[in-house]
Amino acid sequence: MRTKVAIIGAGPAGLLLGRLLDRAGVETVILERRSQEYVLGRIRAGVLEQGTVELLEKAGVSERLHADGLVHDGVELCFDGERHRFNFRELIGRTVTVYGQTEVTRDLMQARDASGATTIYRAENVSLHDFDGDRPTVRYVKDGIEHELACDFIAGCDGYHGASRASVPEGSIRTFERVYPFGWLGLLVDRPPVAEELIYAHHERGFALCSMRSHTRSRYYVQVPANEKVEEWSDDRFWDELRRRVDAETADNLVTGPSIEKSIAPLRSFVAEPLRFGRLFLAGDAAHIVPPTGAKGLNLAASDVGALAEALIEYYAERSSAGIDGYSARVLSRIWKAERFSWWMTSILHTFPDTDAFSRRIQRAEFDYLRSSDAAARSLAENYTGLPI
Ligand code: FAD
Ligand code: DHB
Repeated sequence: MRTKVAIIGAGPAGLLLGRLLDRAGVETVILERRSQEYVLGRIRAGVLEQGTVELLEKAGVSERLHADGLVHDGVELCFDGERHRFNFRELIGRTVTVYGQTEVTRDLMQARDASGATTIYRAENVSLHDFDGDRPTVRYVKDGIEHELACDFIAGCDGYHGASRASVPEGSIRTFERVYPFGWLGLLVDRPPVAEELIYAHHERGFALCSMRSHTRSRYYVQVPANEKVEEWSDDRFWDELRRRVDAETADNLVTGPSIEKSIAPLRSFVAEPLRFGRLFLAGDAAHIVPPTGAKGLNLAASDVGALAEALIEYYAERSSAGIDGYSARVLSRIWKAERFSWWMTSILHTFPDTDAFSRRIQRAEFDYLRSSDAAARSLAENYTGLPI
């Protein structure tokens, strides 16, 4: 089998890249380790920046997003029970859209299936070869039979634990990492959200987030220690803990119910450099991880593949390698801005094992500064709603 671009991974990065390339007449094959149902079952991000919405429009998959997505003008931060609203629309004229990653993935999968482009699910033992030369190949096993896919380029969109980054020789890649001593316990429930907008709450007992998927489905998170087991958290324990970390009005208004999903995500900051190795490119979580506090993971994956699609389309249309040569530097500049913002949001909103009285006062001072300074609030708004590439 032969294609132009072999894409490893059918998460949002791989599917969006495939869609943007297919629409420009650049043939792709996607190889995904899991089943389609498994990929759709993962509950992850929920906030889309304007730039991500525009890319999904360009990919022709925005109909349901515009019908069902919730446009939010701002978010609220809550510090020890005191809430403050940041109105992004008023501050800088920008908004975000709340629409689940699962739905983005479903829209992209449906469009790909309808277009007839090839996606191979349950592709096992994916391995990448000869990407430092002119004729890269990808090998994989499907239903016990070994296959080889020849291609011009490989796009490594296979997440943090994928095969793509792992195939790069150690001496050619540098990585930067910070692992946080806590995770987020998330709960999904078919009950109306507690408030119209998201509430990010700092409390001495730890961070909490009130989010949503629709007017009838809510998503909540509480910070838990890194080694916590989800089995130790009954729904009742979760609701009690959440109530203690938010302000009294939010606690009173909370509509609880039986969880339909509950899971723990670890928090990590990670960047690999560079993101191009001959004919292999890394994009999305394969290239970088941000802690979820800034709602940047999915948006960064989208902006990476937006830039990569442009570069590859330019290569095929004009036989120019300027775009692919510049890909790594171009996206890394935005990636580091998102890393900084996500790290900062994480550090002001969470309680760390070594958070002492001084650190708490500094966190409080950050909150007071954001509340009192227009410039600080505008900077929060700019970073939360999107970053310049
Ligand atoms: P992924 O979505 O990870 O997709 C990679 C795909 O590659 C997967 O389908 C995987 O099965 C496949 N794959 C892996 N290895 C191989 C292989 N060897 N061969 C073939 N295929 C392979 N972000 C937020 O903003 N807010 C959140 O609340 C949030 N929660 C998260 C919770 C968890 C548990 C995780 C892991 C991430 C979370 N994120 C969150 C981050 C966000 O979901 C990711 O940034 C986003 O999914 C990145 O998309 P991606 O396509 O790059 O990677
Ligand atoms: C959601 C997740 C986030 O990480 C975030 O910052 C905001 C919302 C969510 O899952 O709804």
